[in-house]
Amino acid sequence: MDVLEAIRNRASVRAYTGEPLTKAEIDTLLHAGLHAPSSGNLLHYSVIKVTDQTMKDTLCRICFEQPFIKSAPLVLVFNADQNRNRKWVEQFGGHFHFDGPAYLGKGFCDALIAAQNIVIAAEGLGLGSVYVGSVLNRARDVRQALNYPRYVVPVVLLAIGRPKKRPKVSPRLPLRSIVHEESYQDFSAEDIQNIYREKEAAWQGQNPSGLTGRNGARANSDSEYFTMVRYHQTSIREADREFAAAVREAGFLV
Ligand SMILES: Cc1cc2nc3c(=O)[nH]c(=O)nc-3n(C[C@H](O)[C@H](O)[C@H](O)COP(=O)(O)O)c2cc1C
Repeated sequence: MDVLEAIRNRASVRAYTGEPLTKAEIDTLLHAGLHAPSSGNLLHYSVIKVTDQTMKDTLCRICFEQPFIKSAPLVLVFNADQNRNRKWVEQFGGHFHFDGPAYLGKGFCDALIAAQNIVIAAEGLGLGSVYVGSVLNRARDVRQALNYPRYVVPVVLLAIGRPKKRPKVSPRLPLRSIVHEESYQDFSAEDIQNIYREKEAAWQGQNPSGLTGRNGARANSDSEYFTMVRYHQTSIREADREFAAAVREAGFLV
């Protein structure tokens, strides 16, 4: 499959046939991740490959019971990881100072770039995938469940499998809302209105406004939906505390 076609036609897949992946497929995916660019080529990340059902069930429970985590034949957890680098550096006379926020950030970059290489490779193999960011909200539980040493924190989880069916490609904001010519061109209230009106039109009735959340809150606009129902302040602040605690528990100086 052409790379651009794979990128343009990709959509998150959250329902899989029960069929397992072959060893060759898994190998191809993991090598696609390994070939991703990496800061200094130091590979400031690691990947936990999970196929054991009990561990998938545990991750599913930790990540707010998103059912595709336990039904996917392959689950990969990507981490910002300075554990291996620290051991290497200290064993061979170097000095370890990759324990601050900047190199935690590099770990996030490396982990996500490798993950996205795998997403595109999966498309190429006719497989489907979906990211799960909840490992970050529940970072301490993930660290414990997967037995992480110091200097390892989860970034994102990928569930991968054979799609039951191909979902439709989701609309995006117009390109001009993301790309700024030469320097940052800040938005007026009118720009914001136009940009988001286009998105809402493109959603063609999939607009979630009006949905009622678990907390009983009802949204009258997308902005209310995404910040007062789906990503409510209480749960986001809880995620902030959890993630900050996990990063400190892992030994990073933040
Ligand atoms: C960092 C990150 C975290 C995500 N977390 C979740 C998640 O927890 N559950 C889920 O169903 N989808 C998750 N997604 C998938 C997004 O919802 C999806 O990419 C977005 O709605 C756009 O749809 P598309 O991937 O089909 O283009 C996540 C995506 C990213 C990049």
